[in-house]
Amino acid sequence: MIALPRLFAHRCGGAGAPENTLAGLRAAVAAGCRAVEFDVMLSGDGTPVLIHDETLERTTNGTGEVSCTPDRVLFALDAGHGEPIPTLVQAADFCMRHDLLANVEIKPASGHDAATGEAVARYVAAHWCGTMPLLSSFSAEALAAAQRVAPQLHYGQLFEDVPHDWLQRQRTLGARTLHCDHARLRDDVLAEAAAAGVPVLCYTVNDAAQARSLFARGVAAVFSDRLDLLA
Ligand code: G3P
Ligand code: MG
Repeated sequence: MIALPRLFAHRCGGAGAPENTLAGLRAAVAAGCRAVEFDVMLSGDGTPVLIHDETLERTTNGTGEVSCTPDRVLFALDAGHGEPIPTLVQAADFCMRHDLLANVEIKPASGHDAATGEAVARYVAAHWCGTMPLLSSFSAEALAAAQRVAPQLHYGQLFEDVPHDWLQRQRTLGARTLHCDHARLRDDVLAEAAAAGVPVLCYTVNDAAQARSLFARGVAAVFSDRLDLLA
C-alpha cells in the first residue's frame, strides 16, 4: 500500500491561484500542502503543458484548440493574474525542488490519447527524481500507452463512475491507485479496493465534513480546491 498525504491541491493550488499555474504550486506550498494534482495536455508543437480544457477560452485570454496552438502563441497567453501556461518541465522542477508529491493527470485532447500518454511518461521516466509522481488519466488508451513506454512508473486509473471490471483493468495495467468522483463512489468498490490493497483517491471534495466521511469509509486522499480543507 502506498503512503499518501490526505490532501492533494486540485489543479495546482485549488482556489488559491489561477488553475494549473506555477502560482498555484506556490500557493500549495505556502499553505503547507504536501501533494498537488495538475492536468497535462500536448500543445500544437507536442509540448506537454498544464491546462484542463481542450480549448483556451475558459482559463486564458486566447482562443481555439490547445492541440492546434503552437508554443510561441501558447506561452504568450495569460492564464490568470498574468501567469503563463506552464510546461510539464517547469511544474516538475518546482515539485522536485519542494519535494511535493504530484499527481500528473494525463489529459489528452481528443485523438491525442496515446501521444499524450507517451510524451508524459517518457518525460517523467527520464527526468523526474526524488518523490515520484502518480500518473493518472480518464483515458485508458493514454494510460496503456504511458505504461508501455515506462512500466516502472506509478499509475492510477481515473473514473467518473468506477466500472465493475475496474480491478481487472487495474491488474492488466499494473496500476497502483484508483481515482474517482466522490459523489459516485460505491461501497462495493471501496471493499474491493481495501481487499486488494489499492488506495482510493476522490475528486473534488471541498467540504470538510464530506472529506471526514470519505476517510471514515476508507478513502485514502481527496483532491480539493480548498487548501485549508483539513486544517
Ligand atoms: O484528477 C482528479 C481530478 O482533477 C479530475 O477531474 O476535471 O478536475 O481534471 P478534473
Ligand atoms: Mg485534473
